[in-house]
Amino acid sequence: MAQIVCIIGNKGGTGKTTLSHMIAHGIGLMGKRAVCVLTDISREKLSKESRTYLPFDARSPDNLNKVIRTISNVPDWFGVVDGGGNRPATDRMLAEPADLVLLPFRDSHEDIRTVMSDLERFPRARALPSQWPTNAHARAAADKAVDSLMGHYRHRILPPVPMFSSSKLLLQSDVPDRLPATLNNVCKQLARNVFSLWGVSETGEPVSVEDVLGALVKDVAEQE
Ligand SMILES: Nc1ncnc2c1ncn2[C@@H]1O[C@H](COP(=O)(O)OP(=O)(O)OP(=O)(O)O)[C@@H](O)[C@H]1O
Ligand SMILES: [Mg+2]
Repeated sequence: MAQIVCIIGNKGGTGKTTLSHMIAHGIGLMGKRAVCVLTDISREKLSKESRTYLPFDARSPDNLNKVIRTISNVPDWFGVVDGGGNRPATDRMLAEPADLVLLPFRDSHEDIRTVMSDLERFPRARALPSQWPTNAHARAAADKAVDSLMGHYRHRILPPVPMFSSSKLLLQSDVPDRLPATLNNVCKQLARNVFSLWGVSETGEPVSVEDVLGALVKDVAEQE
């Protein structure tokens, strides 16, 4: 039951790396095995120490092929592939073996324009609002911009991942032994949503698309 999610997109700084580690951490907290796959040659590998998942250095094409093949063949391992900004050809290669493609974007017209063109290039992908404002007015304005500019893609937009400061802890080279409950809860929720979008429940039972979308909307409403 190997499953792979990749987090890509042409715009830099949208939260790809943070979200990759959050999803892998969330899967680890669910008691499952996850590999967070680094593909960005301009970034460093992070230590495995104190993590609930395995960071894997796949900056070389050889290592990338190896890890994708291994994850695809080993039951009960889950792969989270972290892309890099401005690499359209690499993005296409990373999306190919993935069961789910996520395209994060922030609350800006520039990000929205880029994610819309990425949604066209990757017809199976979902757009994931990232670093979303938590202040009520800013959130309303961000949601309005998405509604007015991205209406056509409404059914492919996932509930937002909020902006919160402890998200950066997972990108430290060494992660603290104890992480804040907020971070753990958001990561678990995100991982659950990924399982739902894979069409696999946490216990391995298939779930329907209607259940998935209903649960996603409810989960985010409860978080806020
Ligand atoms: N949910 C969040 N809340 C607050 N800050 C965030 C969140 N997600 C990401 N950030 C911050 O935004 C910045 C960019 O995040 P990140 O490095 O994950 O983006 P990226 O898409 O991987 O960038 P690149 O394109 O350079 O690889 C970082 O400083 C990170 O700490
Ligand atoms: Mg990155």
